[in-house]
Amino acid sequence: TEDDNRSTYESLVQTADFLKRLVPFKPEIGIICGSGMGSLADALRDKIEVPYERIPHFPRSTVKGHAGALVFGYLADVPVVCMKGRFHYYEGYPLWKCSLPVRVMKLLGASHLIATNAAGGLNPNYRVGDVMLVKDHINLMGFAGNNPLQGPNDERFGPRFPPMNQAYDRDLITAAKKVAQEVGLPIHEGVYTCLGGPNFETVSELRMLKMLGADTVGMSTVHEVITARHCDMTVFAFSLITNECITDYDCQENPNHEEVIDVGKMREEVLKNFVQRVVKHIGGK
Ligand code: 6GU
Repeated sequence: TEDDNRSTYESLVQTADFLKRLVPFKPEIGIICGSGMGSLADALRDKIEVPYERIPHFPRSTVKGHAGALVFGYLADVPVVCMKGRFHYYEGYPLWKCSLPVRVMKLLGASHLIATNAAGGLNPNYRVGDVMLVKDHINLMGFAGNNPLQGPNDERFGPRFPPMNQAYDRDLITAAKKVAQEVGLPIHEGVYTCLGGPNFETVSELRMLKMLGADTVGMSTVHEVITARHCDMTVFAFSLITNECITDYDCQENPNHEEVIDVGKMREEVLKNFVQRVVKHIGGK
């Protein structure tokens, strides 16, 4: 089964040690770049880019628009490590493997995780190009009995039964709202949910998700956040709305991966600015 092959604490320490030998500073913040947002990583100063295939015990990424590398460097003079390209459940990785890099970030010394994603907007007030700060999530895959923390628990990472009621740091949400206003980014605060993908949802599924209280839907982030909270990292996450979810049978439009990437490109500069200022806020503490 999937849990026969879980990485051990020791193997992830090896991974972290390999990276520490390549990088002369300790990242304070781990940043996961969502679809079309990989250019965030390119904005770092004094970059050190390590392709996933060179990193011991790391998975590889397979999707277009998700180049695979850890990028170390300074953002707003704060040392960070970015995942340029993440691992998705639909690629065939179990959830623990999708979230493994978060534990490596923790072992490298990162106290904070910033997780970004491209998502469909379920909330009718959301427009393409808007940003939603994640205040909570619905772990739908968890409802179905799939969770990155399944299997033997290693207390060196965290407790068997971690709480999830304060997963998203309130102070960072407050700070980020101010920052969004400063940089001119239309901002919301809401609930994200993750499905396994790779297909986009049916009309009926989207209506159901809406009823459940989800404001955005995507294919990532939730398992990474659970893994980060388990090992006591402070979490900040946001969705870039790349399409409005179609909850009308008469609508002829189809969501597609190209528009997801395009909206990322369209928002590239302002998002860079936004993330940079949030990072500065965290680093200034
Ligand atoms: Cl509409 N659904 C999902 N699951 N992920 C998305 C999306 C929709 N739009 C961007 N990513």
